Amino acid sequence: MNDATSRRAHGLRGLVTSVVDGVPMSGGHTLPSTNPARLDEVVGEVSFGDAATVVRAAESAKKAQEDWAAIPAPIRGRAIAHIGRLIEDNAEALAKLVTAEIGKPYAEALGEVREIIDTCDFFLGEGRRLYGQTVPSEMPDKQLFTFRRPVGTVAVITAGNFPVAVPAWYIVPALLAGNTIVWKPAEYSAVSSAAFHELFVRGGGLPDGVFNVVHADGAATFAGLQQSLEAGLLDKVGFTGSSAVGREIGALTGRYLQTACLELGGKNPLLVTPSADLDLAVEGALFSGFGTAGQRCTSLGTVIVHESVHDQFLARFNAAVADAKVGDPTRDVLMGPMMDAKFAERFEDFLGWVQPHQAVQAAYGKITKDNPRDGFVGDPSTGLYYHPVVIDGVRPGDRIFMEETFGPIVGVASYQSLNEAIEMANAPGYGLSSSIYTTDPKDAFTFRDKISAGMVSINNSTSGAEAHLPFGGNGKSGNGSRQSGVWVLDQFTRWQAMNWDYSGRLQKAQMDVVELTPDTTFRL
Ligand code: UN1
Repeated sequence: MNDATSRRAHGLRGLVTSVVDGVPMSGGHTLPSTNPARLDEVVGEVSFGDAATVVRAAESAKKAQEDWAAIPAPIRGRAIAHIGRLIEDNAEALAKLVTAEIGKPYAEALGEVREIIDTCDFFLGEGRRLYGQTVPSEMPDKQLFTFRRPVGTVAVITAGNFPVAVPAWYIVPALLAGNTIVWKPAEYSAVSSAAFHELFVRGGGLPDGVFNVVHADGAATFAGLQQSLEAGLLDKVGFTGSSAVGREIGALTGRYLQTACLELGGKNPLLVTPSADLDLAVEGALFSGFGTAGQRCTSLGTVIVHESVHDQFLARFNAAVADAKVGDPTRDVLMGPMMDAKFAERFEDFLGWVQPHQAVQAAYGKITKDNPRDGFVGDPSTGLYYHPVVIDGVRPGDRIFMEETFGPIVGVASYQSLNEAIEMANAPGYGLSSSIYTTDPKDAFTFRDKISAGMVSINNSTSGAEAHLPFGGNGKSGNGSRQSGVWVLDQFTRWQAMNWDYSGRLQKAQMDVVELTPDTTFRL
């Protein structure tokens, strides 16, 4: 690509813009996207569109869809293969950008980029499968078939905590299946999104209009979605974000007889049973509680520990949290800053939910000179750094127990019987991820059977799902949709049933069928 094409694919030079039908769209207000570890560092300037930009992107996707679907699926699979290779060749640069823009520690950011490549690896071959079935008919000289057809145009709205991996979960299978895209990434991760978009467009050789990106705030996006749905321009909406917004999107799409693909919040429990390897459980709780500074939808909410091992577990967990490296995300740390000021502010509110019957184990709140953290890596005053906090004595009914608290906070509760523990684990009414540490298979299978979550880990943390198993939740965590692996194809394709009668006469189903006569009175 020459320079002019590069600008078309990415946005205007020096400015991240929406790209609709291959053309950068500037003109709206611009805002800087800053580095949460070094707030005076601007990662990029972003130009925001409005509802009309969303509609124009949907029109462009609509216009491009038929031709995209006409490209044979194996060729679309090749496009996915090339995208995966280009991402792999740019993995470090993309991971560095993710770290700079949302403060995710570099090792985790590299893992996130790996998740895009894994997704491409899985779907590149799907272009040569996309299997339908041949099915016997109840009549002679007639054959039945099923085909997967693309749903059409797909709007994808994603959060910024996984600014490149989670979008890939939607965009890769949707493109592979012959759909065209309007993507609205999070405002605070727009620069990483622009890089992702450019890698996809270039790597896939995607024609204009196949993959449009719109930068807009929530209100403009919602209005644009509504107008696009009303105009019949969008056939599917995928959304990753809060349960509250998910509800609105589910209601909106429902009015147009559509089912959105919703991946929402979680209050993910981790059970520690008497037979558990406690050090392993501590390691799992530390990573899932404080990796990505607790800002994953799969982050640990509450550890529910058997009363006989509660004190031992808590002591070891507190020691591990005190030892953990917190600080500059470009260095070897467990936890960097909060992703953006809005999450830092909300986290302060969550800390206000602590009640007198709960015990906060160490310093908490913002890390400052007056509220320091031992062994902090770097200078805490430059960014949005918070103490990782463990709160013991949380109970069902407490706000901290019941609600998602996006950020580095983990509650600890204790239980007496496994049934009680599972009831506690289900009490918040989410149902995304869950975990149990045990060496007793009976506990493991009872937990699997009774837990409401869509994802269950045995002796592993609540986060870190692999990219080819169904990902999704129940209750307040979603509407039953699943992403990843073969399962996500049901989100981006619709089954078409075909029957072909070559008998030369009208054979009426259910009526013109041959009946065999059973001897129902026979006895031995
Ligand atoms: C999310 O937080 O939205 O399982 C996705 C995990 C990651 C994906 C998290 N692979 O923690």
